[in-house]
This record gives sequence, C-alpha cells and structure tokens, in this order.
Amino acid sequence: MANAKANARRFRGVVMPTASHPAIRRVRRQGHVPGIHGNKLWKSSALLIDYLHRQRPEHCQRVLDVGCGWGISGIWCAKQLGSSVTSVDADPAVFPFLDATAELNGVATRHRVARFEKITGRELAGYDMLIAADICFWDELARPVGNLINRALRAGVKHIVVADPERQPFLDMAQGCVERHCAELLPWQCRGSIEARGALLVIENA
Ligand SMILES: C[S@@+](CC[C@H](N)C(=O)[O-])C[C@H]1O[C@@H](n2cnc3c(N)ncnc32)[C@H](O)[C@@H]1O
Repeated sequence: MANAKANARRFRGVVMPTASHPAIRRVRRQGHVPGIHGNKLWKSSALLIDYLHRQRPEHCQRVLDVGCGWGISGIWCAKQLGSSVTSVDADPAVFPFLDATAELNGVATRHRVARFEKITGRELAGYDMLIAADICFWDELARPVGNLINRALRAGVKHIVVADPERQPFLDMAQGCVERHCAELLPWQCRGSIEARGALLVIENA
C-alpha cells in the first residue's frame, strides 16, 4: 500500500503531495487528466510561498490564484493567512487535484474555470492580492498575462506576486511591468524540503 507520508512534503506549513500520493492517485484513477501542464505542483509555487512566508502581505483577505493548477499557493494563503481564495485555471481537470490537496491541508478554495484573458476588471476589483506561479511558459502567454496584470492594477488590486523559474516569456512580460508599473523583479531561492530558484515579479499598487 502506498505510504501517504512518504509521498508528501511539508513546506512552510503546508502539505505538498507528490504525484504518487494515495489521494492524488485516487483522483487520477477517476480519469482526470490535466492538459496544459497542470499535472503536478510546480516548484515556482514553493518560491511564491517562501516569499509570502518571509514578507507577510498586508492586503491578503481576498486572494486570486491564477493558473492555479493543484492550487498549493492559494491553499497556503487560506491556511496560513486566513485568506478567502479563488483558484482560477483554464483547465477544469486540475480542480479534483486541487480539492485533494486542499483536503490534505484542511482548507478549501473557490474554483473558477477561466482563461487569463476572460478575467475582467470588474471581477478583479473584488480581490486584494493576485498570485501566480509558473503561468508564463509559452511565448503566446506573455501578452495575456501582462494584460491581466494591467487590468488588475487598474481594478485596484493592491498586491501582485508572480513566481517563475525565469523562462524567457516571463522575463519579457516582467520587463514590461518594471517599465510601466515600477514592478520589482527579485531573484529568489528557497531551501528546505523543497529547493528552488527563480524570480518573483512583485507589484505594490499603493
Ligand atoms: C505550469 S502550471 C503551474 C500550476 C501551479 N501554479 C503551480 O505552480 O503548481 C500552469 C497552469 O496554468 C494553467 N494555464 C495555462 N494557460 C492558461 C490560460 N490561458 N488561462 C488560465 N490558466 C492557464 C494550466 O492549466 C496550468 O494549470
């Protein structure tokens, strides 16, 4: 029988299951197959969690986790910050994995199936913080992600943090935000049960 403890890591106060965790295998057996790389917890989410753990955000009551995949970044906010979290992904197949991960952590998040370009300013106005990890992995994603950030800032979202392993489309998108929005692009690395390095795009919308 698969050992649940051996197939999960504790990281900054959350349980992060691997693909062989019994709860995840159960979801896979039900036939759910994410199709746009939402097939595991990506390491950039550890960078994002580590950053938020170290730099506790002031505005985090209502959090939008875009391109959430299995949703661990939003789950961390729900568990450690008491945030009310909406997890958004274009791929509905990620949500059973997200629910299994949330259950392991004793929290829940709201689901929304939407592409970045369909998230409106009106919707964004309902959030204090927008977070994302590894969502800019194809050239054609740079523009919709950059435009989403523009809309979020216009809508009054106070804090935006996007983590990435420094893929070129992310760096191109981030450079635009540095020029237009005085964003910071911070090199970041985390140690412990998960080791990762990359960069964080951080925007304070005071
Ligand atoms: C590399 S995974 C990262 C998942 C998660 N953030 C993590 O760090 O574990 C990228 C996620 O973005 C989602 N995605 C890709 N293109 C998207 C789009 N245009 N709109 C919304 N979500 C998208 C995928 O379905 C996938 O779950």
